[in-house]
Amino acid sequence: MTVALRANGVSLVLQDEPNQLPEIVHFGPDLGVEGVGGVEALMMASTPPVPRSAFDKPVALRLLPHEVDGWSGRPGLTAHRSGAAFSPSWSDVQVHQIDAQTASIEATDESFGLGLHTEVRLDDAGIVVIHHHITNLGDGVIDLAGLISIVPIPPTASEVLDLTGRWCGERRIQRSDLQMGGRIRESRRGRSGHDSAFVMVAGEPGFTERRGEVFAAHVAWSGDHLHMVDRLPEGAGRHAGALGGGELIRPGEVRLETDETYSAPPVLFAWSDRGLDGLTDRFHQHLRARTNHPQTLRPVTLNTWEAIYFDHDMERLGPIIDAAADIGVERIVLDDGWFTGRRDDTAGLGDWAVDAEVWPHGLAPYAERVRSHGMQVGLWVEPEMVNLDSDLAREHPDWVFAAPERTSTKEWRFQQVLDLSNPVAFEHVLSHLDTVLTDCAIDYLKWDHNRDLIEALDRDGIPAVRRQTLATYALMDELVARHPGLEIESCASGGGRVDLGILEHTVRVWASDSNDPLERQSIQRWTGLLLPPELVGTHVGPTSSHTSGRVTDLDFRCLTALWGHAGIEWDITKISVEERTRLAGWISLHKRLRPLLHTGRTVRGPEFDGAWLHGVVAQDLTHGVFSYVRLVSGAAAVPGLVRLHGLDPERMYAVRALDVTGREEVRIAGQAAATPPWTRHGVISSGDALMRRGLAMPVLDPMAGLLFEVSATDHEGC
Ligand code: GLA
Repeated sequence: MTVALRANGVSLVLQDEPNQLPEIVHFGPDLGVEGVGGVEALMMASTPPVPRSAFDKPVALRLLPHEVDGWSGRPGLTAHRSGAAFSPSWSDVQVHQIDAQTASIEATDESFGLGLHTEVRLDDAGIVVIHHHITNLGDGVIDLAGLISIVPIPPTASEVLDLTGRWCGERRIQRSDLQMGGRIRESRRGRSGHDSAFVMVAGEPGFTERRGEVFAAHVAWSGDHLHMVDRLPEGAGRHAGALGGGELIRPGEVRLETDETYSAPPVLFAWSDRGLDGLTDRFHQHLRARTNHPQTLRPVTLNTWEAIYFDHDMERLGPIIDAAADIGVERIVLDDGWFTGRRDDTAGLGDWAVDAEVWPHGLAPYAERVRSHGMQVGLWVEPEMVNLDSDLAREHPDWVFAAPERTSTKEWRFQQVLDLSNPVAFEHVLSHLDTVLTDCAIDYLKWDHNRDLIEALDRDGIPAVRRQTLATYALMDELVARHPGLEIESCASGGGRVDLGILEHTVRVWASDSNDPLERQSIQRWTGLLLPPELVGTHVGPTSSHTSGRVTDLDFRCLTALWGHAGIEWDITKISVEERTRLAGWISLHKRLRPLLHTGRTVRGPEFDGAWLHGVVAQDLTHGVFSYVRLVSGAAAVPGLVRLHGLDPERMYAVRALDVTGREEVRIAGQAAATPPWTRHGVISSGDALMRRGLAMPVLDPMAGLLFEVSATDHEGC
């Protein structure tokens, strides 16, 4: 049986042989291959010669590659049963092409006692999702060490891009030549991590945002995981190597009893010959098609963290809520500090009841004040964590993760991790959170996770990151089931848990604790490689950044926070009337543009001489918004013409500069030495000219930008 899945310019071709898992013959551009004849021709043309001192038959890169097929890279499935290693001996392999975009594979390994079920789906966005499940069909336990999903890559994919980062500096890209042996990025943090590889891309040398053939993988999982690309001197049969990943499983973590099934995290694969923007297009389209993707306009939010920190006092908070309503905010989130004993970050985590000293009348005064303005009510929680200085830890020290001979692990922000895989602990947290949500009819939870997991061992010493991750997903789902309409944000000291596993259960990520707009320019750009802007929180913070100390212009902060799920994190009762008016102008601009920003296609111009272009263009190409931002000073005195992207070359567009805080006269966000004439009067130009010739840009100082809008028009330009 051959499988040829085709959608949106992409195809995946599988070929099976008797008693073997299918070989992955092709992943990449849609070659129009159909039927047995088409696949045979493709195989014939790509069968490599056999070199000297090598296997007598070429290596076959299968759905689960293994050394038995001549593959000496990372195996697809690693396991043992009482010390006897898994070595594939598949029988009863059934490959079904269910429709043009879906296939399923069933196989049994009778000698090892193992069943495999794999779903392979190529969706309308052109994203391939591979999802493996294995079941123990024999007697005794199977110890699983790894189950990864891969696709092949060609020899031309010889440069890798993946991401890293740190607190307040998430999603930094790093590029390297892909040498023999490949590259592996592991995360053992019990959360995806500030430094997660995020998306691993292998592509033609020098690929950019707009150019080059690229292949990408993302593991949709919030616990320990790995991304990898393997290249071997002898290649991988008709391919040069493999790209993929899966869960990182600790010894003893997955032990399957008879009839028990392990489901690996789904792994997403994308291909594009239009550089990184082509991958982004596909990822965004994939995410927007999910049934749990937010369907309502993303409410402008005020989060209290950088406004009041732990100073919870309605005398102070009330006026902030009123002022927020006044300028157009639609949701307030009361951050850390509302629950028992939580006067700072050293105590209270785990005691999920309203602190009677700080909130003598419960949270009702807060919730009622917010609701009286027609705004939504949000609340911060961190359900997986516990301070040792809490009633919970004192009463249930055995609920805290630690190796058996210890009582706790190395502290991080004075906190430990609660073992939610313990059903009693899970039920305890669930019932307390449920009560708080019910009492105050909370609309929104900012769900935090402020430390890495280390030695996440249960009381028997068994690694529990997997169980903890699944328990967290289940806790989120149960709360949403009990409180329909509840929205949850994934925060983890900023962007420490941003992945498509958590986004199955949440509708927003907090990209970073940095509200410094200069840092945010790049954090948001690269978070956007995978996530569409409506899923990413973007806030205007204080003039002097609380995390970097950098002082920035309000307009530049607004320009940077405009694009995502926008909000404010600032004590707006302590700012001038003029600043508040400008914030109101920015909110109304955001509200006008958000239907476009949150449905359109993201386009990015590569960084050039210290500046870059970012934009969103409507799917029908009639409307777009762009910003041109200077990050550092350039070598050139004048930036020259900057080419736009993603427009219709056949159409005429009216281009006009926008004032980001809504003033009559357009002003640059930040310092500008000179602006081109069109920024004052607008200009009409063809999409073709805007994309192939470009548009004059202002001379900007670093941390300054120009916002402009393009609208298709019938008028002739000049
Ligand atoms: C984390 C979050 C912040 C804030 C604090 C509260 O650091 O990332 O946004 O919620 O916790 O303690």
